[in-house]
Amino acid sequence: MTLSEKVIYQIYPKSFLDTTGNGIGDLRGVTEKLPYLAELGIDMIWLNPFYPSPQKDNGYDISDYMNIDPVFGDFEDFDQMIARGKELGIEFMLDMVLNHVSTEHEWFKKALAGDKYYQDFFILRDQPTDWRSKFGGSAWAPFGDTGKYYLHLYDVTQADLNWRNKNVRQELFKVVNFWRSKGISGFRFDVINVIGKDKILKNNPEFEGKFEYTDKPITHEYLQMLNRETFGQDENAITVGEMSSTTIENSILYTQPERKELSMVFNFHHLKTDYKDGNKWTKAPFDFQKLKHLFHEWGEKMGQGGGWNANFWNNHDQPRALNRFVDVKNFRVKGATMLAASIHLSRGTPFIYMGEEIGMIDPDYDSIADYKDVEARNAYEMLIKQGKSEEEAFDIVSIKSRDNSRTPMQWDNSTNAGFTRGEPWLKVGKHTDINVKKDKDGEIYKFYKKMIDLRKSEKIISEGSYKPALEDAEHIYAFVREYGEQRLLVLNNFANHSVNFKIPQGFEKAEVFVNNYGSYESETLAPYQSVALLAK
Ligand code: GLC
Repeated sequence: MTLSEKVIYQIYPKSFLDTTGNGIGDLRGVTEKLPYLAELGIDMIWLNPFYPSPQKDNGYDISDYMNIDPVFGDFEDFDQMIARGKELGIEFMLDMVLNHVSTEHEWFKKALAGDKYYQDFFILRDQPTDWRSKFGGSAWAPFGDTGKYYLHLYDVTQADLNWRNKNVRQELFKVVNFWRSKGISGFRFDVINVIGKDKILKNNPEFEGKFEYTDKPITHEYLQMLNRETFGQDENAITVGEMSSTTIENSILYTQPERKELSMVFNFHHLKTDYKDGNKWTKAPFDFQKLKHLFHEWGEKMGQGGGWNANFWNNHDQPRALNRFVDVKNFRVKGATMLAASIHLSRGTPFIYMGEEIGMIDPDYDSIADYKDVEARNAYEMLIKQGKSEEEAFDIVSIKSRDNSRTPMQWDNSTNAGFTRGEPWLKVGKHTDINVKKDKDGEIYKFYKKMIDLRKSEKIISEGSYKPALEDAEHIYAFVREYGEQRLLVLNNFANHSVNFKIPQGFEKAEVFVNNYGSYESETLAPYQSVALLAK
């Protein structure tokens, strides 16, 4: 099976299934639910970090790259998980966090103790720049009592690594090769387009430093080295780079097969269409025209440039898409299937985030104390400092927090939604009436299953080209896929009311190929209706 026919499912292990009762999901929990995922039809599972970590950023602050945190299990559990996956035709993709380590990692500890060899593993300066951390505050912190500062683009406990140092690169390549030796050939590289920092770092007042470290040309060289020294040696390797504020031009370069960098990239532009003036910590409805334009631009240009996208609506860093892009109160089910069609029928590899296949939504917590994420906590404080009332600040955090998607997976309607028999590390959401027991074989799940099947059986979906359609439509996101003689028009109504449109030339007599409603009336789409019309 080629990459274009595969669908990847993301599991946040901490919140998937707890088999020990400690309130934290574990690898055995993943193994236990593999048959459920095999039935859905997915090919690969991306697992968020389960390595030893102080958990300041939920495992993205790694203190030991080549180990498993005992709260998640051990190597025996890991091997069993891989073996069971193999039996069921499911592979695994591991999360490689190579931009930074926890300040509890021995490299940082040795550096702090004065070891010069390890000091050169980090980015230390006498004078900090004006860069801001992605989680708020300065991106620099005092390096012990040396008078120097170390760079941390994320939390103060996540120290950026100095990729300019060959020894650092070699250590990181060893990490990837270690997991390859455990039978892994899929890798998701965390914030990989910020690894390339210049020798001389400059202030960047307008953009908080962003363009001084994002998509630097040297990043491409590092990725080519990483590819050559590690996964590039596996014929079937599948890799995805998480690209912070990237451009189409760079994403084409990252993914053109002949450049030997990565298989595909995640970009986040479409998930910023509900940020007021580019600021996440605001409350604003999403801008549909902007969203549509972004999808069109990326779909078309990545295709023309021979690049490959990873397409997704949800992940562990995003509130649930159903709460953001559809009228979830009135049209949760149709909204969910429409969102699915809009990316599963598009060009690129679709990712499904756990719970998406049953239409899980944000938790609707009542208190700020329910939010655990470092980013949400910092943001709440910042909003209060800016003069917002507690209510206003809570309101914003509750719609924007990353915890919205990190809540425990809902397996049934019992206490803690069947996630744990203990106290869950993060409170279960309120809407446990949405759960696997009830919704497996429901409308949303069945539609996802169908989307996955179609990608495997229809070349036009896996391989077809992408062209924007109905570009001026007020509420419809439409595109045309082409493969040989076939043409598929995909229409998605993003409005909570019916809309009319003029059928594009050549599709007047096309057959209805996909429909998330029972019927389709020519040139009309019902609320959140998705229809794909096939012309031969
Ligand atoms: C990525 C991860 C996110 C993490 C950050 C820092 O964006 O997806 O969860 O906080 O990198 O590692």
